[in-house]
Amino acid sequence: MISKEVIEKIFDAVRIEDVVSDFVSLKRRGVNMIGLCPFHKEKTPSFYVSPAKNIYKCFGCGKGGNSVDFVMEHEKFTYPEALRYLAKKYHIEIEEQEQTAEEIASMNERESLFHLTAFAHAFFQEQLHQTDEGRSIGLSYLNERSIRADIIQKFQLGYSPEIWDAFTKKALANGYKKEFLEKTGLSIFKDDKAYDRFRGRIMFPIHGISGRVVGFGGRIMDKEKSPAKYVNSPESDIYHKSNLLYGLYLARTEISRKNICYLTEGYMDVISMHQAGIENVVASSGTSLTTEQIKLIKRFTPNITILYDGDAAGIKASFRGIDMILEEGMNVRIVLFPDGHDPDSFARERTGDEVKHFLDENARDFITFKADLLLKDTHNDPIALSQVVGAIINSISLIPNQITRELYVRQCADMMKMEEATVMNQLNQYRRKQYQEKRKREQQQIPPEDNSWQTIVSKPTTVQPLTPIVDKDKDLKERELVRLLVLYGSQEMKCMVENEQQRPEEVSILVTDYILNVLENEQMPYENRPFIDQFENSSYKQIVQFFSEGRKIGQIPTYDSLKNHPEKAIRELVIDLISNPYSVSDGWENKRIFTKTEAEQLNFACEHALLCFQSNLVGKKLQQIEQQLLQLDSSDEQKQNLFLDQYLFFTDIKKRIAEFLNRTEMVD
Ligand code: CTP
Ligand code: MN
Repeated sequence: MISKEVIEKIFDAVRIEDVVSDFVSLKRRGVNMIGLCPFHKEKTPSFYVSPAKNIYKCFGCGKGGNSVDFVMEHEKFTYPEALRYLAKKYHIEIEEQEQTAEEIASMNERESLFHLTAFAHAFFQEQLHQTDEGRSIGLSYLNERSIRADIIQKFQLGYSPEIWDAFTKKALANGYKKEFLEKTGLSIFKDDKAYDRFRGRIMFPIHGISGRVVGFGGRIMDKEKSPAKYVNSPESDIYHKSNLLYGLYLARTEISRKNICYLTEGYMDVISMHQAGIENVVASSGTSLTTEQIKLIKRFTPNITILYDGDAAGIKASFRGIDMILEEGMNVRIVLFPDGHDPDSFARERTGDEVKHFLDENARDFITFKADLLLKDTHNDPIALSQVVGAIINSISLIPNQITRELYVRQCADMMKMEEATVMNQLNQYRRKQYQEKRKREQQQIPPEDNSWQTIVSKPTTVQPLTPIVDKDKDLKERELVRLLVLYGSQEMKCMVENEQQRPEEVSILVTDYILNVLENEQMPYENRPFIDQFENSSYKQIVQFFSEGRKIGQIPTYDSLKNHPEKAIRELVIDLISNPYSVSDGWENKRIFTKTEAEQLNFACEHALLCFQSNLVGKKLQQIEQQLLQLDSSDEQKQNLFLDQYLFFTDIKKRIAEFLNRTEMVD
């Protein structure tokens, strides 16, 4: 039982923004803070934290409450568990009675697993520091590896003695059930005998993102004694290794602050880097990297630098990692360590500054990295060379954002001394293949019947209030895309792509598919919502939404259905679009000379409209950065540089889009 006084003390101490920011990256927005809701999937932040009211509220899924509610919801804690968690965070002491055996037995299962794991965690630490065996074997091993005492404390390292059942015995004597000893994998029961899973090992506790210990890795010190260098906890209700990153709990704040995460392979890599003063580092701990792990990092930063051994296995693993990170729309760089070194051995021989310097100097973007490595063995053999190019383009093709892809296509063409168009063709070929596979997968999930187009279109609109179209010119960039959808959405257009034999081939694709594929799957750099969420005019946005929903159920809206829409603003807009079918966007109206009808030139029209739309967004972004720069405290050089970098980055993008638009117009 926790006393009433202590509960009051906890409620007095908690700050909602502290509590939440252990799990969610928050940005200040006026008096509030906002972030991506941890309770439902979203790409645009609708999760608000009010420091003044000491509460959180998500306007997307409706969840809200105080700090205790938050940790209960997020960590699936019971009420007393949540209070204990917060008490610990704010260093408030809870004087509790020792739990009786019955109390332990009645805890629910997950809680029991956590409880037993915490008990083991304390046991292993005590063994390391307070027993002769622990000190003479465990601590002296750690000393030999020059791990400092403060780092041993920070990572809460422990020791499990050589005795067969030291831990199991102790746990059973303390009322922990056999069932849970087995489920956490801490003990192995066989033929009426009980063994400890970890024996004679240095223990590395593994924390979940909330800071609770969920499992262990145990390292043998004497290679003779066991062939397995590491033994790890098995999968359980509380330990899912594909969903965990070693060190993330300690690293998360620093990852956010430095806006970059170093990804290593092993426990020791993380520990040595911390010892060198680099704290934004995590390890995938021997499992091959998973998408869940990448998404965990994405909560704190879009930038990952992979630090792997320079051996064949490390390189192979890094190739896989690169593609997975790119697919998540994140930025990836790679550092390979000199022969025979991993981050751990490298960091140990150097000062922190030397390590930082090395990382800065040696982080390469994925194209340079892949090209350098693969080109080594090609000896100018044309077939081998084209395979290298293929491998690089394949990676580029996974990037969700078109503009970013375009930048990398340039770089790749430059580096490989190829025509940009050739690279682009091959890229399109890969994209088409991926797209077709995705469509196939989507089509297999046929939606329920009543979800017909008619019901969607007659539903009340979700975007309120609808903006009347007062100034057509101002919204041209958005209008043009909507116009193409409304007028030509169900028409097929021709696209030229290169087939497997590298010959040009004409394929057909629906205008709606072509446009929405970009709007739904791509986003601006530094933006975490897709283009489709960036329409400013809510009427246009609503119509695009109709097409998006209709496409999912294979019923693309027609202008006949749209012009009868119950919402007046939608009706008017659609009718206006139909009645002025040729009011095309600026820029191309003047330059284009029609030799064919517009319907025949749909490909060009769509591409053009998409680029204009993006260019417009980039323009807005530039204005926004300018504003931010102006408002900046002039002494904050770091921020200034950051904004300037972004400014140059977007200026470059704008320039490239402009060049691209000119080019397509000339070709036409
Ligand atoms: N690993 C494992 N089981 C093994 C070997 C490795 O689970 N038999 C995992 C561990 O998480 C380890 C990571 O793979 O941390 C990387 O392996 P390695 O680089 O060999 O281990 P280090 O952590 O570097 O340990 P040490 O430096 O002590 O060898
Ligand atoms: Mn190592």
